[in-house]
Amino acid sequence: MADSEKPIIDLQDVSVTFQSSGKQLHAVNKVNLQINKGDVYGIIGYSGAGKSTLVRTINLLQKPTSGNVIVGNQELLKLSNPELRQARKKIGMIFQHFNLLNSRTVLGNVEYPLLSQRISKADRVAKAKKLLDLVGLSEFERAYPEQLSGGQKQRVAIARSLANDPDILVSDEATSALDPKTTDDILKLLKRLNEKLGLTVVLITHEMQVIKSICQHVAVMDDGKIIERGDVAKVFSDPQQALTQNFVDSSANVTEALAQIKADQSLQALSANERLLFLKFRGQATKESLISDLTELYKLKANILFANIERISSTSIGYLIIILSGQSKQLADGINFLNQHGVNVKLLATEKKGEQTNVKTNIS
Ligand SMILES: Nc1ncnc2c1ncn2[C@@H]1O[C@H](COP(=O)(O)OP(=O)(O)OP(=O)(O)O)[C@@H](O)[C@H]1O
Ligand SMILES: [Mg+2]
Repeated sequence: MADSEKPIIDLQDVSVTFQSSGKQLHAVNKVNLQINKGDVYGIIGYSGAGKSTLVRTINLLQKPTSGNVIVGNQELLKLSNPELRQARKKIGMIFQHFNLLNSRTVLGNVEYPLLSQRISKADRVAKAKKLLDLVGLSEFERAYPEQLSGGQKQRVAIARSLANDPDILVSDEATSALDPKTTDDILKLLKRLNEKLGLTVVLITHEMQVIKSICQHVAVMDDGKIIERGDVAKVFSDPQQALTQNFVDSSANVTEALAQIKADQSLQALSANERLLFLKFRGQATKESLISDLTELYKLKANILFANIERISSTSIGYLIIILSGQSKQLADGINFLNQHGVNVKLLATEKKGEQTNVKTNIS
């Protein structure tokens, strides 16, 4: 294999085991992960999945219990301490809580990683100014971190992480403390740095939108393992694992809509000719007039409680929550019609004589 084809990050069978109150905790469990140079690679998972622990092995901030970490052709576990220090400089990191030095100016923060380098003060300042310009903060170089907004602080942290010209930037929930607009700005900045500097970006998040907006590849992590991975559009448009499906559903606000519907007392009292349905459809089905066909052909009424279409690359995934009402034979035929057109239909609630109507929220 030519060097250019080798992944820049190659985690081989990496495990991290912690001893926690006498028990072993497998925070990272035999993970293999290859990331190519120039990629923007997302790692998504719920809290405690092991994301931070995994990415901390990339620069050996977390030493694996077993396995091999190869970054830019170097086996990091075989390096001497000075060699490892050098290798770490090529791996920048940014975090949710910026970690800026409050006693130093913006410029001083960006200069900081260069203090141990053998370069002149003039060169150091010039470099820091250039980086501040790159992240759009030139006019704030004399400000102190406390005078900046969260988005501006993260830009300083990004500039600082680039001081040693890293090949890799690891972003651990760097946008989690920011509002949606600022999140978008920071993600666009990361994408621009990826394109302009050829920087490989590894980005951890628990939000699918973050992955969708800038990543090319994604790995879904659960309980220390990668349970699904691949091209972002492919993984999220056709999830193979229930957890991945959960991320897609919550990104389309479906999870929240279902919870609200469950809490709605008026939906606890459906009549005999009503069905509360959750419909999910993808691709071509999102472009067809299925609901008007359904109501016309079977003389049904559809009361739409929630509707959304999530677009992932060129695939659309549609979600509808409706109360469908009509005669029971026609209701059954109508549901059949939907199934035949590739719509996944889940009955959330129906009238149950003598029992309270039960709205299910499990949609996987
Ligand atoms: N130094 C440590 N000692 C003991 N247990 C740890 C240590 N660091 C992490 N863990 C445990 O390992 C598991 C994975 O933690 P990790 O921080 O990697 O998860 P995460 O996916 O990054 O979660 P979050 O989204 O909340 O940041 C958790 O159960 C955590 O409690
Ligand atoms: Mg974490």
